[in-house]
Amino acid sequence: MIKVLFVCLGNICRSPLAEGIFNHKIRKYGLENKFESDSCGTSDYHIGELPDDRTLKCASKYQIPINHRARQINRVDLRESHYLIAMDFSNKRNIESLLEKHRIKHDQLFLIREFQPGAEELEVPDPYYGGEDGFEKVYQILDNSIEHFLEHLKQSQNIYV
Ligand code: 4NP
Repeated sequence: MIKVLFVCLGNICRSPLAEGIFNHKIRKYGLENKFESDSCGTSDYHIGELPDDRTLKCASKYQIPINHRARQINRVDLRESHYLIAMDFSNKRNIESLLEKHRIKHDQLFLIREFQPGAEELEVPDPYYGGEDGFEKVYQILDNSIEHFLEHLKQSQNIYV
């Protein structure tokens, strides 16, 4: 089983939505026995909380089930996740610092938008302080990026379905 971990700051907006979209797609493509995903935040701000209401509303609009409580990234995540997928540069830098601190070598740390063809920028914008339109934009970015990320995963794992 290949483990994918989506990481943002609070783990209530972007990364739980990314996890939900990823899980929805692997079910759609019958790949649940190959991949699994989880999400977490670099901060401790919202530990134990449900996703933001705006995240849940956006996910339900697209029939994406989300069943998640916010949690903070830990050393086991860094050791056991095959892919560490950050939403923005700050998340990625935080993960790099943690890897250094724990002396862990990891060669599959990416920004999710590295997989989005023709991405106009490399960050998934933080929607927390904005309105619902920001969540819609995040959804569109994640849906497109994750579709291509899955293609990358299938190719690198030699899965032809
Ligand atoms: P997320 O969004 O990192 O996508 O979950 C945020 C959630 C909370 C905060 C910032 C971003 N906050 O500052 O509390």
